[in-house]
Amino acid sequence: MSDPTAYDIAYQQALSDPVAFWSEAANALHWDRPWDRVLDDRAAPLYRWFEGGMLNTCYNAIDRHVLAGRGAQPAVIYDSPVTGTKRIITYAELQDEVARCAGALRALGVERGDRVIIYMPMTPETLIGMYACARLGAVHSVVFGGFAPNELAVRIDDAEPKVILTASCGIEVQRIVPYKPLLDQALTIAAHQPAHCIVLQRDVHRCELTAGRDHDWQETVTNAEPVPCVPVAATDPLYILYTSGTTGKPKGVVRDHGGHAVAMHWSIQHVFGMSPGEVFWAASDFGWAVGHSYIVYAPLLAGCTTVVHEGKPVGTPDAGEFWRVIQEHQVRVLFTAPTAFRAIKRDDPDGLHHARYDTSGLRTLFLAGERLDPDTYHWARALLQKPVIDNWWQTETGWPVAANCLGLTTFPVKPGSPTKPVPGYVVEILDDEGHPLPPNREGAVTIRLPLPPGTLPTLWRDDARYIDTYLSRYPGHYLTGDGGYIDEDGYLFIMGRVDDIIIVAGHNLSSGAMEQALAGHPDVAECAVVGIRDPLKTQLPVGLVVLKAGVTREHAVVTAELVQRVRDLVGPVANFRMVAIVSRLPKTRSGKVLRKTVRSIADGESVSVPATIEDPTVLDEIQKALQTLGLAGNPRTAIGG
Ligand code: COA
Ligand code: AMP
Repeated sequence: MSDPTAYDIAYQQALSDPVAFWSEAANALHWDRPWDRVLDDRAAPLYRWFEGGMLNTCYNAIDRHVLAGRGAQPAVIYDSPVTGTKRIITYAELQDEVARCAGALRALGVERGDRVIIYMPMTPETLIGMYACARLGAVHSVVFGGFAPNELAVRIDDAEPKVILTASCGIEVQRIVPYKPLLDQALTIAAHQPAHCIVLQRDVHRCELTAGRDHDWQETVTNAEPVPCVPVAATDPLYILYTSGTTGKPKGVVRDHGGHAVAMHWSIQHVFGMSPGEVFWAASDFGWAVGHSYIVYAPLLAGCTTVVHEGKPVGTPDAGEFWRVIQEHQVRVLFTAPTAFRAIKRDDPDGLHHARYDTSGLRTLFLAGERLDPDTYHWARALLQKPVIDNWWQTETGWPVAANCLGLTTFPVKPGSPTKPVPGYVVEILDDEGHPLPPNREGAVTIRLPLPPGTLPTLWRDDARYIDTYLSRYPGHYLTGDGGYIDEDGYLFIMGRVDDIIIVAGHNLSSGAMEQALAGHPDVAECAVVGIRDPLKTQLPVGLVVLKAGVTREHAVVTAELVQRVRDLVGPVANFRMVAIVSRLPKTRSGKVLRKTVRSIADGESVSVPATIEDPTVLDEIQKALQTLGLAGNPRTAIGG
């Protein structure tokens, strides 16, 4: 037998003695009051970590480092190719700005436990606003800018914020996105109204402020009294981050202070292999889990420097943008989604842009958010000549469930696999009856309870939905919603979602939300949205729509309205552009839409007609309709019994 690796030792310890493992990790942080219990299982299956402990996340990520002599070290590097701005903010400067922003929030009545919605672009003020909330013990909820007012309104009504932080605009490759009118529209839809909004005015596009409600960021924050950190319970919520559910209603994933700080601090060192003082760049958006965990919290908790990039992998201005940022800011580790690399590969297949820059300082590329296909893996590996590490996780878990833990042991990579479960996670593949499956057999990917610190303790104000969605299907296990298998070497392979979530460009979208938007059109009788394969964005949504009897309007006009409707109600991020009008939907006799069958037809796979189908002849029509959209490439004969 070979000696156990550092990974084996950590994995076994986290498994056999989680209390010792996680209390040692927690001791690296500053606690205002020690915890009474590391793991509180009294309300199982709802678990809490570090019960009785008090700390402040902002203190641990910023003030602690200033006191320890890191005040002059860059905390944030803001690089915005879309505005031509670069700015370095040291830990000491960040402490001051965050303390003032917290002061401004407090002056508007925000206290511990109050919610603040943040609807902002990739500017340092967004990170400052998040930390200002953490400083006060207020709960932030960041809403991604690519969501439409309707989606923002749903989140406002669920979180009931006292204050909203926003900006006059965001900047996309081809256009300026005025955020303020989107917010105003959301507030006409929402039942809940915030008492105040703080608006960051940007020079490229300024906006009108609503008298009595809106405050200018610059004036309000600059003149505010800095406030100290408020110690909060480890189990208090730090933030709510909404993620798509299988229904139209998003789920408010809750993250607590204590477990989260511990998991962030541990994972950035042991999974991502970072050391204090190094530069980490998560090329994502504040509005996603990657942005929360690995732009905002983990790098600063560990005393690293984080990059806030307001740009895209391509188009700002070209496919060399990532390499420029890596060279210019001495980025050690880059973390992004495979789709970003597919976009770069599409524009610069031979890596000519890459040749213009020196990226030798980069140690590792981490990719997550969607399946890392072997082609993209090999292309990135050959281009960068650095390890490319796939890691698998979800908004709910907040940090990697499976990865090659570079801070412990580097295992040989198997393309297509995010390697092994990270210490703290026990991943089990179960069959329909809940029995564990042997190696190489595909089933439901589950995680044995309790989940480690930093994962969701519940959904916002909805323990019942949390239990129902995640914990009831397989008692004692958390249901990830992904299908997959573990091979004979213990490597995990994730094969995709088994529910109605669609993964578009690394974003998790609900087919239910799009169906709701389509169903609201006056001409629509019935509809279904399925995710079909796309070489750039992994999946794209396609709508199948049945019109009401008697509708005689031109189909092209109706489909254009439907596309616009999803854009207006869900947002541009849905990438919804394809609609087929059909006479009926393919359903089982019990009325369930056969999404998997539609997906297979659209993807050009051979399809066996499900035994439960109500009327098999409908599949011919579906295939023809999908072909008019340029899909369903394979010959029709592929549909067989
Ligand atoms: N605010 C407003 N609109 C936004 C937005 C934001 N923050 N982010 C995206 N959008 C819009 C885009 O402008 C686009 O609008 P369009 O239909 O008018 O073109 C639409 O939403 C779709 O966006 P996206 O799917 O991101 O496509 P894209 O063509 O703009 O960019 C990539 C494609 C691959 C370059 C981009 O998705 C990317 O960089 N992804 C990888 C990184 C990442 O964000 N990962 C997430 C989790 S790690
Ligand atoms: P989100 O909550 O938006 O981060 O989406 C989580 C989902 O994205 C997971 O349940 C997976 O379906 C998918 N996903 C994320 N990372 C990976 C990965 N490395 N490999 C395969 N699928 C992934």
